[in-house]
Amino acid sequence: TAPITVPELRARKARGDKIACLTVYDATFARVLERSGVDVALVGDSLGVVVQGRPATVAVTLEQMAYHVGCVRRGLERPLVLADLPFASYVHPHQAVASAAELVRAGAQMVKLEGGRQRLEVVKALVAEGIPVCGHLGLLPQSIHRLGRYRVQGSDPQAAQRLLEDACLLEEAGVDLLVLECIPATLAEAVTAEVAVPTIGIGAGPHCDGQVLVLHDLLGLWFEGRPPRFVQDFLAAGGGIEEAVRAYVEAVRQGRFPTAEQSY
Ligand code: KIV
Ligand code: NA
Repeated sequence: TAPITVPELRARKARGDKIACLTVYDATFARVLERSGVDVALVGDSLGVVVQGRPATVAVTLEQMAYHVGCVRRGLERPLVLADLPFASYVHPHQAVASAAELVRAGAQMVKLEGGRQRLEVVKALVAEGIPVCGHLGLLPQSIHRLGRYRVQGSDPQAAQRLLEDACLLEEAGVDLLVLECIPATLAEAVTAEVAVPTIGIGAGPHCDGQVLVLHDLLGLWFEGRPPRFVQDFLAAGGGIEEAVRAYVEAVRQGRFPTAEQSY
């Protein structure tokens, strides 16, 4: 089947077809994603946690991101490869374009960056170079030292209103996709209705246009106490790794994941 393109993602939203996204960091698992029907392969800076064993994503470098993007790229053909711009690699438009270009040369087809209204000039500069951008609102792991801990965002009315505005501003600036992390399901639903670009949720309820999970979490590889409620071990149902990823993709497509109990 044909590779997933940016216009195809928009068409999915227009048709009401859900987008299945999953993180991946190497070629072997990339092959599993390819075979399981995953639409978007996210080379997330979560690799700092699940691959490098760090407490947060902020230590991940551009060079490390490019290395993992290359590894993933060689393992798949159909899924769209989305790569995180790492912490502090997109402060100025010039720097952002140079950073994103590294990831595109390594095989990324779209780059993701965290933040709303403070990123508009950067988004415009990337789009002007022809680089598709995915926004990321809600819980922003690269801001962990300001946040103090990982928790639900956008719960009070002002924060919710601000997030909704940020989503609209990012869309105007030219993003083609929008990740919503750890926000109330009702807020994610409102954002999804408001913008024409597809929303991809993680801990953002069932109403987003697609879902994303960290690969290791989906495989039940969670060792730090109790996982957050939106994490589901798809390997627990039995079968192998490929079946688990396929079960996740099917659950996303059919709107069975996440459930209300797995949402905020
Ligand atoms: O790095 C990552 O894995 C992510 C997803 C959780 C959205 O940004
Ligand atoms: Na990330």
